[in-house]
Amino acid sequence: MARSAIINVMVQAATKAGRSLARDFGEVQNLQVSLKGPGDYVSQADRKSEEIIFAELSRARPGYSFLMEERGEVSGDDGQHRWIVDPLDGTTNFLHGIPIFAISIALERQGQLVAAVVYNPAMDELYTAERGGGAFLNDRRLRVSARTQLPDAVIGTGIPHLGRGHHGNFLIELRNVMGEVSGIRRLGAASLDLAYVAAGRFDGFWEEALSPWDIAAGILLIREAGGFVSDRAGGQDIFESKSLVAGNEAIHRALLKTVRKPLSAR
Ligand code: IPD
Ligand code: CA
Ligand code: CA
Repeated sequence: MARSAIINVMVQAATKAGRSLARDFGEVQNLQVSLKGPGDYVSQADRKSEEIIFAELSRARPGYSFLMEERGEVSGDDGQHRWIVDPLDGTTNFLHGIPIFAISIALERQGQLVAAVVYNPAMDELYTAERGGGAFLNDRRLRVSARTQLPDAVIGTGIPHLGRGHHGNFLIELRNVMGEVSGIRRLGAASLDLAYVAAGRFDGFWEEALSPWDIAAGILLIREAGGFVSDRAGGQDIFESKSLVAGNEAIHRALLKTVRKPLSAR
């Protein structure tokens, strides 16, 4: 499949960092049984992945700005472009030897998402999208699922945990959704959750307390696969609100309504 120059740059960075993560993941699996556990080792793997991506992207496109999970904002001379990068999404899975983690790289031009790569090195799944050019898994063109009814739908989400998120609100949302759908999944890597919606594996997805690096690439993947993405209020303030609801047109609409149903309406 012929890829554009910019997607090639992003794929090169993601696969190089992916090889580094895959090596470290092998080691993490050995460290599981040690008393100290692989915690420090994983932080190093995360930083190493970010170093590789930062070096590759800076070399290929000098002057572009960055928003990276570990480094934060790095502003470049070029006022138009910004990379949004999560060097290891699904850290808890990685730490526990669960092969569901990814590198997520998005490119914004004048504040608009124009290119996306999400790469899961453990499964060698490479998701790419370019604005107006469609979304792909390896060489296969992606389409969101065709299911239109919640009772047929499998929905992904993220579950708040110790020290994170609003537990009470999530339980209300979960109660609303679980009674209406055919299944709910929690992968533990938001970039892959969104890639799964783009690939039609998940019919929809919702989560709150997300950061731009978790979702920037996935948002474009879904849009380019024909899907709909909004914040929890149905608007487009996704990064600001940190909330996201996604699906094909029908599931997105139905899920928005269901997630937001007040408890008293049941
Ligand atoms: C996390 C994952 C997870 C989501 C969390 C994120 P990290 O990212 O994407 O699925 O529920 O909100 O913080 O910490 O593994 O990069
Ligand atoms: Ca993340
Ligand atoms: Ca991360």
